[in-house]
Amino acid sequence: MSEQKSSGGNEPLIVIASNRGPFSFTQVKNGGFTAQRGSGGLVTALGALAERHEVLWVAAALGKGDEAWQAAHGDQPADVEGVRLRLVRTAPRRYDQYYNVIANPLLWFIQHELWDIPRKPSITGETWKAWRSGYQAVNRTFAEAIADSVKDTDRPIIIFPQDYHLYLVPHVLREMLGERVQIQPFIHIPWPGPDAWRILPGEMRTAILTSLLASDRVGFQTQRDAFNFVQCCRLYVDDAHSHGSRNSIDYHGRRVEARTYPISIDIEKMEELAAENETRLLKAQMMAFVGDSKLILRVDRIEPSKNILRGLEAFRELLVNHPEHKGRVQMLALLVPSRMEVDEYQDYLQQIMADAGMINAEFSEESWEPVRILVGENYRRAIGAMQIYDVLLVNPIADGMNLVAKEGALVNQRDGVLLLSEHAGVFYELGEHALTVSPFDTYGTAEAMHQALTMPPGERHDRAEALRAAVKSSGVRSWFYAQLDDAMRTLSSQSKNASTS
Ligand code: G6P
Repeated sequence: MSEQKSSGGNEPLIVIASNRGPFSFTQVKNGGFTAQRGSGGLVTALGALAERHEVLWVAAALGKGDEAWQAAHGDQPADVEGVRLRLVRTAPRRYDQYYNVIANPLLWFIQHELWDIPRKPSITGETWKAWRSGYQAVNRTFAEAIADSVKDTDRPIIIFPQDYHLYLVPHVLREMLGERVQIQPFIHIPWPGPDAWRILPGEMRTAILTSLLASDRVGFQTQRDAFNFVQCCRLYVDDAHSHGSRNSIDYHGRRVEARTYPISIDIEKMEELAAENETRLLKAQMMAFVGDSKLILRVDRIEPSKNILRGLEAFRELLVNHPEHKGRVQMLALLVPSRMEVDEYQDYLQQIMADAGMINAEFSEESWEPVRILVGENYRRAIGAMQIYDVLLVNPIADGMNLVAKEGALVNQRDGVLLLSEHAGVFYELGEHALTVSPFDTYGTAEAMHQALTMPPGERHDRAEALRAAVKSSGVRSWFYAQLDDAMRTLSSQSKNASTS
């Protein structure tokens, strides 16, 4: 594979940096390692990219196997399935402060606007400690590992730091590597307007914004996020000016673009998975589980921003306001555990189970239990269930994109209706073919459920076809290549300028 890669001459070296890496490692008895490939969209996009370009991926070592793998490679990059991988090792305490105190929940909660502001958060001495010896330190370690890994190349370098874990990486990289590198972060989660960011003390906010302004271009999921970023820079960063532009900021001699690249799914891989025998078996299980009832499905990580509680409340209102659905509709929630170390997440799961229990206690009849919740990670089972829903409920309070909406629309076989929050990034691509709701409006969501359950077949079919076509028009590879193309264009205009000056 490596002979076909463009690795010589002036071809750029592509560096991805993300908290969670593409592989996790387990040490086996003979001292060797087995590598398990992650399933996220970025991993998929990169798989294709790595066949054509030389790619270095820098990620955190998560757990003992990862630590041992990186130690065995002397803290230098090593090849794994066509990707050069370097795992960053940090002290567990620092990592905990970075991940469990600052990134999740503080930044995540601010960016999804989840705080109960009269009570939380308080930025305590512990938070400041976590900022300095956790978030800042881990970001610096990441940037140093990147700089160290690229120090011997004289080729152009494009670095793509991913997401809210690594906001401070661009600043350190620019300090260490100067103007010879292109730095292009992508932010997967929502970027709210300036008011949401007032929760963060000025010093932290400025550090984040000025670091991102050390990049060449910052990528966002939607135009709204990009616009909000520009507004934040104008308001909070001295010397940052947009000169009337909605998608760029001039800061200290650099024009930083805020560009939109909506992420998507791996269409071919989804279709393959949907056709596999194991998925078919799980789909049959799900069909037996649901019986003759119509299915309202949700598939989510257990995550307060997903708005699972109001989804249940809306379902309850449906049964109260439209009792004809009693005994004829099943709500099935497939929930994947996430970040259980964060208190808010644990409380949230408990509340979900309690609320579902209350609905079942109020409405269950003989063999019909209105709400079923399956907790656990089983991607094929989720795909099986997505094939047979009548209604897919995607009602987050805020969401960068929400790929479940795209996955569901692609694989569903029953002309299922998408019930979509207007605060999910995917709303801008799929909203016109979905029934859209305010995530706070449980009455409106219940009415939309009723509308979906009683929609004439012709309309369901037309909407489902339009959704599928919209999803198929752009997969995850085009998401990544659009960013790469922009970075390459800047590189080539820089080298032209350099040769003419
Ligand atoms: C969600 C978000 C991503 C984020 C990820 C981190 O999937 O959409 O933007 O990077 O969570 O999750 P983790 O499990 O790695 O903390």
